[in-house]
Amino acid sequence: MAVRCYDGRMNSETKQMKIGVLGSGSGSNMQAILDAVKAGTLDARVVCVIADVPDAGILERGRRHGVPSFYVDPAPYKTKLDGDAEARYIAVLREQGVDTVVLAGFMRIVKRGLLQAFGGRVLNIHPALLPSFPGLKAWEQALAYGVTVTGCTVHFVDEGTDTGPIIVQRAVPVQPGDTAATLHARIQTAEHEAYPEALRLLASGRLKISGRAVTQQF
Ligand code: GAR
Repeated sequence: MAVRCYDGRMNSETKQMKIGVLGSGSGSNMQAILDAVKAGTLDARVVCVIADVPDAGILERGRRHGVPSFYVDPAPYKTKLDGDAEARYIAVLREQGVDTVVLAGFMRIVKRGLLQAFGGRVLNIHPALLPSFPGLKAWEQALAYGVTVTGCTVHFVDEGTDTGPIIVQRAVPVQPGDTAATLHARIQTAEHEAYPEALRLLASGRLKISGRAVTQQF
């Protein structure tokens, strides 16, 4: 069974985790991470943000917070980051000194090249309790299925779609009369706690992956 340990302190007590965020949307999860860093509850720096959509709100948010913010062309692919586009993303992340890649509403499948370039230190947030409702618009899938509890999941990214080892999950109730919008908003409130929490665990340097299980070593 493969066991991997993640030293979030990146080899010394003084070297902070350097996060590169990839996103396609408004960037509220990145905002939560920036807020945790600012509040001193997450020992890390967001060193850059890259979007695959030129006018994504996450870029404007990054610029407002003084984070180097880049649109990087994902062409020719529509749903994945691969080939030359993947190489362009890796190059920018490396130039900016990133050691940890955080997918925050990045609506593409990332492939082996990016995962290997960052030694598996690639995290994603998904708006459901995986393995339920992988893929797109998970909150709509939850409503359509009629579950009474859904939530969010922060996980390491592997080569599948929303299949990597799970770090943090938060449950969220589905309430009578919920619409897709009200349920997604409630899930996002949970996401904004879950992502900083998962990054704190990673930064502690004590996360261990054994098979699918992520545990803390003391
Ligand atoms: C979040 O709800 C995130 O879970 C979801 O996109 C939203 C991005 O919001 N991601 C996925 O659905 C990935 N499959 P944000 O841009 O405000 O952080």
